[in-house]
Amino acid sequence: MNILVINGPNLNLLGERQKKIYGHDTLEELMIWLENSTLSAKQNFKFYQSNHEGDIIDIIHDEREWASGMLINPGAYTHYSYAIRDAIESVKMPTVEVHLSDIHNRDQFRAKSVIKSVCLAQVSGMGKNSYLEGLKILLRKK
Ligand code: DQA
Repeated sequence: MNILVINGPNLNLLGERQKKIYGHDTLEELMIWLENSTLSAKQNFKFYQSNHEGDIIDIIHDEREWASGMLINPGAYTHYSYAIRDAIESVKMPTVEVHLSDIHNRDQFRAKSVIKSVCLAQVSGMGKNSYLEGLKILLRKK
């Protein structure tokens, strides 16, 4: 499978950002860990991070032919970006929404996802294992 992994705003600061919530790994460490997991053997990955909504939409459009599945952590865009939601719906790429933290047990505004309805599943609160769990779901759907 060709798997697109998109990380949204502020996730470039993993490793220094609210470590108690998001853990100690940098984004690069986390993505290397994901790519090296036994589950990832034989899968091809492309990793992107952007702090900009339009960039994230462009990446989804540009990779729509290449990717056979997507893991996306939209960061705070999760809670209000109808544009990212529509991009996911437009390309019909099997997608799993992932979050490091448990968005259902934090600030009230985080509990709502406008992205979830166009995804196969939402995985949250498992730290870096949320990405692995998301990958499992994509591979099952293959
Ligand atoms: C996050 C949760 C979001 O609410 C937050 O804005 C993030 C990270 C997570 O991975 O837990 O930036 O998506």
